[in-house]
Amino acid sequence: MKLLALIASGRKKGNSVIASSYIAKQLGAELEILNLTKMNIEPCKACYACLYGEECRIEDDVSVVYEKIKQSDAILICSPVYWLDATGKMKALIDRQFMAIPHLREFSKKYAAIITPHGFEELKGWASATHIILAKVLGLNLLINVEINAALPGEVLTSNENLEKLNKVVEAIKNKKKIVLQNQCPICLNTVFRIENGILCPICGSKLNENLEVIERGNRLELNWMIEHYNVLRDMKEEFKRKKGEIIKALKVHGYET
Ligand SMILES: Cc1cc2nc3c(=O)[nH]c(=O)nc-3n(C[C@H](O)[C@H](O)[C@H](O)COP(=O)(O)O)c2cc1C
Repeated sequence: MKLLALIASGRKKGNSVIASSYIAKQLGAELEILNLTKMNIEPCKACYACLYGEECRIEDDVSVVYEKIKQSDAILICSPVYWLDATGKMKALIDRQFMAIPHLREFSKKYAAIITPHGFEELKGWASATHIILAKVLGLNLLINVEINAALPGEVLTSNENLEKLNKVVEAIKNKKKIVLQNQCPICLNTVFRIENGILCPICGSKLNENLEVIERGNRLELNWMIEHYNVLRDMKEEFKRKKGEIIKALKVHGYET
């Protein structure tokens, strides 16, 4: 089995690297680590060229990530919490994923797991939710999402609780079976919720009760939803043409040059 770890941490032997290597060892898998901090990932220019089937106009390393995913059987998104969220390079990669459109069907056959180390339990924030977004916009089949408490480099293997979580990741990948852990959305495995007339999962859009059981299933960011959403975005070009006069008028009223 070929395992690819997408890591956006500056630490050479940090918890993300060690956790990925532990999982690979338990699976008897060959591990390749792509350290995003070493890669050139430019910000999206919002030109929408790729949305209309053109090549991305930015020449950088995003396509390297696709090549590596194609060569892998399963993908670990294994990367730390920085200031309650994913690290900047991870978000930079997410922002470029209109580019993944031609790969979505192929990538939907690839299994994925998320491992998010944090230094402080009370500061773990929503980084794992951001990591779920990456899995979704790449079209990957997410099996498990674990949040790991480990601050010091390599500390990840010092607690039984962490080892149990990493072993669950191994189990999910080995059996190709989704595992929902405590306090997670049963649909998309998210751990962070909004209160809007009850509990709402902001990722998949499912309505949940206080035991996080599904009242109404959402399908947001799932493959078919994504394909439909990209059609909606393409239609917005026509909407912009229709609304352009109104937009220009409003800008002029408020003193903006057009
Ligand atoms: C700039 C920076 C910001 C961090 N912010 C947080 C944070 O908001 N919450 C938290 O729990 N840990 C935070 N940490 C700690 C890391 O998440 C933790 O050390 C983690 O194990 C690092 O993973 P790594 O060893 O794979 O790099 C931060 C670390 C750095 C360097």
